Amino acid sequence: MARDRGLSSHRISRRHLLRAGAAAALAPLAPRVAAAGAHRLVAATARAAIAGSPYPETEVWAYNGTVPGPLLRVKRGATLTATLENQVTDATSIHWHGIRLPNAMDGVPHLTQKPVGRGESFLYEFAANDSGTFWYHPHWKSHEQVERGLYGALIVDEDAPPEVDRDVVWILDDWRLTAEARIAGDFANMFDVSHADRIGNTVTVNGRIAEEFRVRHGERIRLRLVNAANARIFGLRFDVLSPWLIATDGHATVPNPMGAGNRLVLGPGMRADLIVDCVGIAGERVTITDDFYPRQAYRLLDVVYGDEPAVREKVPRTPIALAPNALPEPDLAKAERIAIKFGGGMMGRLAEAEFQGQTRPMREIFMRHRMAWAINGKVVGEHDHAPMLTLKRGRSYVLAMENDTSWHHPIHLHGHTFQVVARDGVRPPRTVWRDTVLMNPRERVDIAFVADNPGDWMFHCHILEHQAGGMMAVVRVE
Ligand code: C2O
Ligand code: CU
Repeated sequence: MARDRGLSSHRISRRHLLRAGAAAALAPLAPRVAAAGAHRLVAATARAAIAGSPYPETEVWAYNGTVPGPLLRVKRGATLTATLENQVTDATSIHWHGIRLPNAMDGVPHLTQKPVGRGESFLYEFAANDSGTFWYHPHWKSHEQVERGLYGALIVDEDAPPEVDRDVVWILDDWRLTAEARIAGDFANMFDVSHADRIGNTVTVNGRIAEEFRVRHGERIRLRLVNAANARIFGLRFDVLSPWLIATDGHATVPNPMGAGNRLVLGPGMRADLIVDCVGIAGERVTITDDFYPRQAYRLLDVVYGDEPAVREKVPRTPIALAPNALPEPDLAKAERIAIKFGGGMMGRLAEAEFQGQTRPMREIFMRHRMAWAINGKVVGEHDHAPMLTLKRGRSYVLAMENDTSWHHPIHLHGHTFQVVARDGVRPPRTVWRDTVLMNPRERVDIAFVADNPGDWMFHCHILEHQAGGMMAVVRVE
């Protein structure tokens, strides 16, 4: 897959970065935890050692001065209160990705709220009724603002979480840095928009290049993964760590091993909760490799067993399954089926589409407006919020989605959690709830949900340049 075009001549080599990052290897690999109570999230420019020595710090946009922003954590059922203060040079907002909340708190400028201008603030307040691993990020020029570093994790704790020795969050991101470790300013360039989007040259875990993650023999770790990258899909091989997957996008799934190669695929926006029982011996190293793009496989980090005394000798017998959230079960027999077709992109077969109220050739839409993608034949511009669908509150729906493109798309629906009920017509082996589902090129995926949350909700590809390039729509529930 073609990537990094144009920057390859002065791209920073990851191997170099890895060596450079080694000095920081013993710093704890954890986002800063916010104090409980009402949160203040100040979006402002900051400097962060993304590439590590000898590279200069990178100018980023960050919440409270750190990338990722503070880890927000509440108990299930508690109310989360956060005031966004905008000190960046553009308008912004915060979207609470995956949280089922009232529409007015969803953080989509011009749809659910006014954009928060520079110097302005906005109070977000909602009950966190679902436990799980979620995240927050702007929903205004997301392809630029998330890339600049505005994102953080939000954990809603179960009433009785599984017993673990450590609860760890890894927010994965990748950055396209120049040789001076600046964020490359070519946001939404035409190549990225129409292909796989902005794949970066520097991968970070919790905002820095990770070298090692230290564990102890016998430890049981809950590992929460969040993919905050604009476009990079991760295909993480955990090898002999043999984790169990216990949650998808925050929601319980019957604990299951990952199968061949212990590989976990995570598209942008998606999350996974894993349980890892560390059964290796002191000094052992296990390399976690990301080989989603096979020709660009690289080492994410090494899990290293320290020589401290074992935490325990045997794998604990305590249960690892999560209690399910109270999600409304869609009635598949009565559900209305709605066909959704995603089209466009390079090597697409969509000849024309509707844009700004007119049917035009895709070529022209792309060359003149840099828009490259369509949902049901419509290319949606930033301020076009006419609903594509109007759903009846309380009814069950199946969105029969078809990816009629040559590219992957992680498709995200706001305000609801859906079940993935079929992939290319085949029912998955176990119930999987998600808010973002990764569609393979040409794949068909059926998702089902109860439209129980009134309001206008975004439905879009979470590859953020695809979203900006037209792959979005509004679903109204009334
Ligand atoms: Cu995480 Cu509409 O986005
Ligand atoms: Cu996409």
